[in-house]
Amino acid sequence: MFPKYIFPRRHILQFGLGALMGTIALAGAKILPLNRWAQAVESLNRTFAVDEKLPLKDRSIAKGLIYGAAGRYGDLLNTQKLADCFVQECGMLVPEWELKWFAGEQPLRPGPHQFDFTRADGMVEFAQANGLFVRGHTLVWHLSLPDWFEGIVNSQNARRFLVKHIKTVVGHYAGQMHSWDVVNEAIELNHERDDNLRKTPWLELLGSNYIDLAFRTAAEADPHALLVYNDYGLEYDRDTDESKRKAVLKLLEHLKARGTPIHALGIQSHLQGDATDFNPDRLRRFLSDVASLGLKILITELDVNDQKLPVDIEVRDRIVAGVYEDYLNVVLDEPAVIAVLTWGLSDRYTWLSQFNPRSDNAPVRSLPFDDQFNRKLAWNAMARAFDNARNR
Ligand code: G3I
Repeated sequence: MFPKYIFPRRHILQFGLGALMGTIALAGAKILPLNRWAQAVESLNRTFAVDEKLPLKDRSIAKGLIYGAAGRYGDLLNTQKLADCFVQECGMLVPEWELKWFAGEQPLRPGPHQFDFTRADGMVEFAQANGLFVRGHTLVWHLSLPDWFEGIVNSQNARRFLVKHIKTVVGHYAGQMHSWDVVNEAIELNHERDDNLRKTPWLELLGSNYIDLAFRTAAEADPHALLVYNDYGLEYDRDTDESKRKAVLKLLEHLKARGTPIHALGIQSHLQGDATDFNPDRLRRFLSDVASLGLKILITELDVNDQKLPVDIEVRDRIVAGVYEDYLNVVLDEPAVIAVLTWGLSDRYTWLSQFNPRSDNAPVRSLPFDDQFNRKLAWNAMARAFDNARNR
C-alpha cells in the first residue's frame, strides 16, 4: 500500500541577485548564446515573488483549473516525500507508464490475452484515497507495445485486439477516470502521407479509421470520461511545429465532422529551456482554433528540458522558471484550457534524466520541485501563472 499523507516542511527560496549576476556572467560567457543570455539577464528583473501559503492544487482550483502531475508506481510507493508532495500540491495523478500496453516492470499487457492491472490499480487507489483525479495515458500509441504484438496481431484480428484492449482497460476504470489519452502522437509529417498520419502498426493494420474506432470504443466503455487526442511538437514558432499544428487541426476537424466522440486536445508541452522561438501570438491562434471546434485543451506533459542551459543552478532555475511562466501565461489565457499536468513533480524522478541527460552529467532540473522535494523557482512561476489566470 502507498504511504499515508504527511505534510512536508515548507521551503522558502531566497536569492542573492548580486551573486546571481556574477554567475550568469560566467555561465553566459561560456555557454549561453546571445539571445539566451539576454533572457537570463531579463529574468533577473523578475522577482517570481509569490505568497507561498497555497499549494498549486488550491491555486488552480480557485480558477476552475486542475493542476496535476505524472508519477510512477515504484517511485510513489518507495518515496514518502514524493507521495506527500503529490497529495499536497496536485489535484490529479497521471500514471506515467502503468497504463501503456507494455512499459516498465509488470506491464499491463504481459500476453495477448492477459491484463495485469496491479500497478495501475495501486496508483488509482492512492489517488482516490487522497482525493486526486486520475487520467489515463494512453490507449493507442506506436510505442511501448509488447514484443508479442508483432507475431500475434495481424490485419485479420487487429480490430478485435484494439477493441478488446480499450473495452477492457477503459471498462475496468469506468466512472473513475477524469480523462483518457485515447490516441497519442498519431501525426508525423516526415511519414509523407497526405493525411499526415504516422505509419504506426495500427495504421498499417486498420487504416486511418483506427482513430475513430478507438474513440468510439472508449466512449462506449466509459461515457463519462473526457476523451483526448494527445500530441507533441505544437508549441514553438518553427516550420515543423506550424505544419504540425495545421495537421493536428485538420485531424481534429475531420474527427468532429464525422461525429467521433472526441472532447479535447492534449498538448504535451515538453519545452526547451534554450529555445528562443516561442511566439505567443501563433500559439494563441492555434489554441483559439482548437477551442472553436468545441474542444477543451489540456496541457498534458509540461516540463522544461535544461540540457543545454548553464550548469549553475541559480541561473538554470531562473531560466527554467521564466519558460514556465511565459508559456503558462499564454496558454492559461485561453478559456478552453482546463488542466495543466507536469510530466513528473520532482527532479528526482523525470524521464529527462534517462532520455535527455546533460552532457556534464549534472542532475537535470526541469520540474517544479527539486530532488529533495523543495519548491523551486519553477514552482513560483507556476503559482504566479495560476494566480494571474482568468477564471473558468
Ligand atoms: O521499470 C523499469 C526499471 O525497473 C528499469 O530499471 C529501468 C531501466 O531502463 O526501466 C524501467 O522502465 C522504464 C519506464 O519508463 C519507467 O521508468 C522503461 O524502460 C521506459 O521505456 C519507460 O519510459 C517511459 C516512456 O514514455 C516510454 O513508455 C517514460 O517513463 C515516460 O516518461 C515516457 O513518457 C512519454 C509519454 O508517454 C508520451 N509523450 C512523451 C513522453 C516522454 O517520452
